[in-house]
Amino acid sequence: MSAQILDGKLMAENIRAEIKDEVAKFVEETKVQPALAVILVGENPASQVYVRNKEAACVKAGMKSLMYRLPEETTSSELLELIGKLNKDADVHGILVQLPLPKSIDEKKILDAIVPEKDVDAFHPTNVGLISQGRPNFLPCTPYGIQQLLVRSKIETKGKHAVIIGRSDIVGKPMALLLLQKGLGGDATVTVCHSRTANLPEITKQADILIAAIGQAEFVTADMVKPGAVVIDVGMNRKEKEVVDENGEKKLVNKLVGDVDFESVKEVAGWITPVPGGVGPLTVTMILYNTLNGARRQVAAR
Ligand SMILES: NC(=O)c1ccc[n+]([C@@H]2O[C@H](COP(=O)([O-])OP(=O)(O)OC[C@H]3O[C@@H](n4cnc5c(N)ncnc54)[C@H](OP(=O)(O)O)[C@@H]3O)[C@@H](O)[C@H]2O)c1
Repeated sequence: MSAQILDGKLMAENIRAEIKDEVAKFVEETKVQPALAVILVGENPASQVYVRNKEAACVKAGMKSLMYRLPEETTSSELLELIGKLNKDADVHGILVQLPLPKSIDEKKILDAIVPEKDVDAFHPTNVGLISQGRPNFLPCTPYGIQQLLVRSKIETKGKHAVIIGRSDIVGKPMALLLLQKGLGGDATVTVCHSRTANLPEITKQADILIAAIGQAEFVTADMVKPGAVVIDVGMNRKEKEVVDENGEKKLVNKLVGDVDFESVKEVAGWITPVPGGVGPLTVTMILYNTLNGARRQVAAR
C-alpha cells in the first residue's frame, strides 16, 4: 500500500491566503505595511533562489520586501552596520540574513546582532530561550511549518514517539522543542538522533513520526521505517538520477531530492512529504507569518 502524500505546497498556498487576508486587515486598521528585510551576501545559487522565493511570497501576501544583495567581499562590520540601521528602522518589522554566509564572516555574531523583536527566523539566543520555556516570541520557520503540516493534516502528536534525525540549531533542535511543548502539535515523546547515534535504524523503526533533517540524499530507506509511520522529509539535496525520456531513452538529470528515499519509503509509511512540494513551501510561509506577527507587536508597543 502506498502512503498518503502530505501536500506542503497546497497547504502553504492555503496558509498564505489566510496571511494575505490578515495583512490586508492589519494595513487597513494601522496604515502600516508589514516589511521584511532580507540580506543576501555573495552569489550562492541556492541562496539566490531561496531569497527570490521569499521576496515573491512577501509581495504576494501584501507585505513589503526590502532586499539587500551584498557582494561576497562584504565585511562583518559592514554587515553589522546594516543590521544596526534595520534594527532601528520603525518601518522594518522582520530581518532575515540568508545562510550560509561567506566563511570570512562570523555567522553567530551577525545573527546575534538582530534585535529579538525582528528576528523572524527565531535564531537569536533570547528567542531560542523563550521557545525552550514554551513562551515563544517567534517560532522557527521550518519546524513551525512542519508542526502546522501535522496539525492541519489532523495527525496526532500527543503521546506519539517522534524521532528526529539531525540536531542542527535550524531544524533538529527547535523541532524537538516544538514537539515537546504542551498542547496541540506537541506532547510527543521525542528522540533526537545524529551522526554519533548508535543503531540508528533500530531507533527510527520505533518512530510514529519520523523527521529527517540530515542533508544526505535519500538516506532514510524503507527498512528504517515502521509501517504506517508519518515521514517528514526536510532534506534538500541535489543528486544525479536516471530518468527515461519521451523517446524511451535513459538519461541522467540533476534532481532535487530529500533525505528520504521517497520511492521505497512510500510503500511502508502511512504519510509522507514529497521533495519538492513538502516542507520547503511551508518554511517560506512561516516567515510571512512571523513578519506579520512582528509588525503587530511592534505597532502595539508604539
Ligand atoms: N525544506 C526546508 O525549508 C529546509 C530548511 C532547512 C534545511 N533544509 C535541508 O534540511 C537538511 C538538513 O539541514 P540542517 O541545516 O539541519 O543540516 P546540518 O546543520 O548539516 O545538520 C545535519 C544533521 O544531520 C546529522 N547527520 C549527518 N549525517 C548523519 C548520519 N549519517 N546519521 C545520522 N545523523 C546524521 C548531523 O549530525 P552531527 O550533528 O553529529 O553532525 C546533523 O545533526 C539539508 O538538506 C537542508 O538543505 C531544508
